[in-house]
This record gives sequence, structure tokens and C-alpha cells, in this order.
Amino acid sequence: MKFSGNFKSYLKFYPLLTTHHLLSTIYYLLSTTICLLLLTGCWYDMRTQAKVKPLESSDFFLDGQASRPLLPDTVSRGNLDLDKAMYQGMNEDDTPVDAFPIEITREVLERGHQQYDIFCSPCHGRLGNGQGMIVQRGFKEPPSFHIDRLREAPPGYYYDVITHGFGVMYSYASRVEPEDRWAIIAYIKALQLSQNATLDDVPPDQRGRLEEPGQ
Ligand code: HEC
Repeated sequence: MKFSGNFKSYLKFYPLLTTHHLLSTIYYLLSTTICLLLLTGCWYDMRTQAKVKPLESSDFFLDGQASRPLLPDTVSRGNLDLDKAMYQGMNEDDTPVDAFPIEITREVLERGHQQYDIFCSPCHGRLGNGQGMIVQRGFKEPPSFHIDRLREAPPGYYYDVITHGFGVMYSYASRVEPEDRWAIIAYIKALQLSQNATLDDVPPDQRGRLEEPGQ
């Protein structure tokens, strides 16, 4: 507050102000102490109340478990994933899908390239020939992606392998999101094409570049 001119008028209010401040400070301290006491009381009660921890047994229910099983078909919020092609790579009749459920753009391929190099190349090799570093150090050698059987395998088949694992290869479901699984598969398909392409696969206006010296 700014007092202009008359200093006496300021002094007149001064004792009043300090008394008021003192009272509010005492009030504040008292209420904080009471709150703290109440809170610690609560905490103690909750710590000692009757309760069961997850997976603990109990004689309350007939099956001896304290936790109740989820009702059939319960789905956690945000995980409904009804789109079977997108989230399982399968058609309604449980055969692997032939088409990609996402649009394949250059961006998707680049993402797939990056994710493939991170998650798959340690075993399958950067070329997909099964000669990754972990294989060179003694892990079981996976089949090359360039054998006829895997070249002809539909995208849904790859999705299933990434999601559930295959033989000694473990599942990547917890590490690679569904969108990224499809991106990886798109990149594997591009890898396969790159190792089995003929001159006819190259757009006519680009063929000249292949015949340039040093290519
Ligand atoms: C730790 C090593 C390892 C990693 C990492 C790995 N794989 Fe595999 N993968 C294997 C092995 C080994 C096999 C052969 C499994 C067997 O026959 O027991 C295999 C098999 C496969 C097959 C072939 C299944 C068939 O029908 O023969 C596909 C497809 C495949 N992996 C895709 C992938 C993809 C995509 C990734 C990356 C997300 C990946 N793998 C990461 C080791 C690995």
C-alpha cells in the first residue's frame, strides 16, 4: 500500500495491522497442525484396515482366491481392437490377410526400415538373409526372407509371427506396436523385391541409370 504525504495517518493504522497479522499467523499455524494430526491419523487407520493384496488367498470366496476373475469378454478400456485384420492379421475365417490394412507410403516404408533394423536385423540380417550378428554368435539361423515360401507368404502371416513368435523366435507384441508391425512387413516385402527384381520391375525412365558405369 502506498501512503502519500501524511506519515501520521500511516502510524495510526500500524498497531491494528500488526495485531491482525499476528492473529492470522496463529490461526494458520493452528489449522495446519490440526490438519497434519488428522492426516497422520487417517494414514495409520488405512494402513491397518482389513484388506487383501493382489493374488492373496482368502476364505471369503469358495474358490479360495481373494480377487474375482474377470467376466468373459471383458476388455480393458482402449483395447477393444475389433479390427481383426489390423490387430491379428487375420481374415474372419482365420486365414492370414493378403492385403495391408494400412496405406503404404514412403514414410511408412522408412519407418519400417528403421524398426526392422532395430528389432529384426540382429538375427535376420539387414538384407533379410538370416545372417544377423546374433546368428553369427551362435543363435539358431532363421530362414532367409528370400526363399520362395517366405516370398509368397502373405503380409498377415508375418504379422502373426511378429505378434506370437515362431519356434525359438519370441513374440514382439510388447515391443512393436501394431502400426509398426505393418510398417516392418511392408519393408520386408520391399527387401524381398529388391533381391528378386528383374529389369522389367524398374520404371522405363529409370532403367538407363542401371546401365551407367559403376552401378
Ligand atoms: C533373436 C533373434 C530374432 C529376432 C530379433 C527376430 N527373429 Fe524372426 N526368427 C528367428 C529365428 C531363429 C527364426 C526361426 C525360428 C525357428 O525355426 O525356430 C525366425 C523366424 C522368423 C520368420 C519365419 C517363419 C517361418 O515361417 O519360417 C519370420 C517371418 C520372422 N522370423 C520375422 C521376424 C521379424 C519381422 C522380426 C522383427 C520384428 C524378427 N523376426 C526378429 C530369430 C529372430
